[in-house]
Amino acid sequence: MMNPKKIIFDTDPGIDDAMALLFLSRAPQLQLLGITTAMGNGYIEATTRNALYLRDRFGLSVPVAQGASRPLEGEPTEPPTWVHGDNALGDIAVPADSASTPHALPAHRFLIDMIRSHPHEITIIAVARLTNLALALREAPEIAGLVKQVVVMGGAFGTHGHSGNVTPLAEANIAGDPLAAEEVFGAAWPLAIIGLDVTQQTQMDDAYLRGLVDDGGEAGQFIWDISRVYAAFHVGVGVSGGFYVHDSSAVAYAIDPTLFSASAGPVRVVTDGFAAGHTIQSRPGAWGQRPAVQVCREVDSARLLALYRRVLCAPPAR
Ligand code: BDR
Ligand code: CA
Repeated sequence: MMNPKKIIFDTDPGIDDAMALLFLSRAPQLQLLGITTAMGNGYIEATTRNALYLRDRFGLSVPVAQGASRPLEGEPTEPPTWVHGDNALGDIAVPADSASTPHALPAHRFLIDMIRSHPHEITIIAVARLTNLALALREAPEIAGLVKQVVVMGGAFGTHGHSGNVTPLAEANIAGDPLAAEEVFGAAWPLAIIGLDVTQQTQMDDAYLRGLVDDGGEAGQFIWDISRVYAAFHVGVGVSGGFYVHDSSAVAYAIDPTLFSASAGPVRVVTDGFAAGHTIQSRPGAWGQRPAVQVCREVDSARLLALYRRVLCAPPAR
């Protein structure tokens, strides 16, 4: 196999974030170098505690760097406890205090350091508010030319009617810090967006999850336990057929982009008003020098679900 891709995972764990982290840490095609935390599914203290807990529980020996506590402008949104539970991990028992502590650097400086010390090698998978990435770009704009790729779970471009989840026109990760997204999508780094267009096309139902319990060992049982609140939320809002696969779809793209088809063109973000967080893609060359990015439009869901299961249920490497 080719050398694994070096990954920094920017995340707000979060039930689907935890599922994506387990997926990514077990995929032989990827090598996790660090975790940076963002606010979103919880306030920053909670998402950082959850990231440390996941790291320690599953023996991931990588640093966890704590991210920004607020968006570039305004206040953080209230955590969606009705989606991810009061502790953002589906209300399983998580010790309030962990013996381990975050990295000495804040997330955006950790990102800058890692990118500079591994030029053209780092892929950032960002599955939360994009505040840390925007702060890193503001402080060190040259990192855009030093990153291998940025893969973002966020946004919604209206494919098959998928246009928003927190408002009719906006997805949560973008709505939570629209200005950060506008800056990150305008930077000159290779960028792919995995929005609701594709994440709401892939669902995990109870039968699929029971298969992970049967064959996925401790991780499979853990995924079942944390996802009860998440599954109930989807049923409660009328989604049948299982819960949507958001953050793990971004990890799947990093492993195998042929699972997706995409359109190329610059993307802009509405930064205020009733449509704040709305994402729009135009034709290549529109909007001046703004770079073209890949927006995923279609996904082979069956193949993605098979990949997730295969990685989760593989015997541990010796
Ligand atoms: C995104 O919002 C968060 O709640 C999820 O973890 C995912 O990253 C989906 O809109
Ligand atoms: Ca997330």
